[in-house]
Amino acid sequence: MTSRISSKWIILCLVTLAVGCAKDEGPIFIPKAVVPGEAIDTAYFSTEVLPIFTQHCWTCHPDMSGLDLGANMAFSNLVNVTSTNHAPDIRVVPGDPMASVLWHKVSQSPTYGLTMPPNGTFLTDEELRTIRDWIEQGAYDN
Ligand code: HEC
Repeated sequence: MTSRISSKWIILCLVTLAVGCAKDEGPIFIPKAVVPGEAIDTAYFSTEVLPIFTQHCWTCHPDMSGLDLGANMAFSNLVNVTSTNHAPDIRVVPGDPMASVLWHKVSQSPTYGLTMPPNGTFLTDEELRTIRDWIEQGAYDN
């Protein structure tokens, strides 16, 4: 009995140690866990994602880096398109934010250099969640 209790403590200590030593890297935005049975909040490209680009990105990206984030061009410039500066990686891989250059560029990940927008401002958690949800949900032109 006593030995069973002490082995539980050892496991607890190991887990605590492992969590404590986890590397502090990557995007600071931590997505909310998906709760089974909870309704998914659909992210719409035209009414939710595009306005973020118009507000924060379009001053530089009618063409900077070969990327047009204007209303008529943003979708076709992003989804399944090879990055200009980070080829052969893809700007938006439907369903996979971590494989998408766009996600890394906006979420303060160091993978592709400068965080967008590169002018000292950052997208809010809400805006980041919208972009991430949209990519995760299949990056539809919805
Ligand atoms: C002040 C100008 C400026 C603003 C505003 C800006 N960008 Fe950029 N962006 C750049 C420059 C310069 C590069 C090229 C250097 C680099 O890749 O970091 C770039 C590169 C990129 C790339 C990589 C393109 C490729 O395929 O090589 C993406 C994706 C991107 N920006 C997305 C965004 C998004 C999304 C926003 C808005 C949240 C944004 N940018 C706002 C200047 C800007």
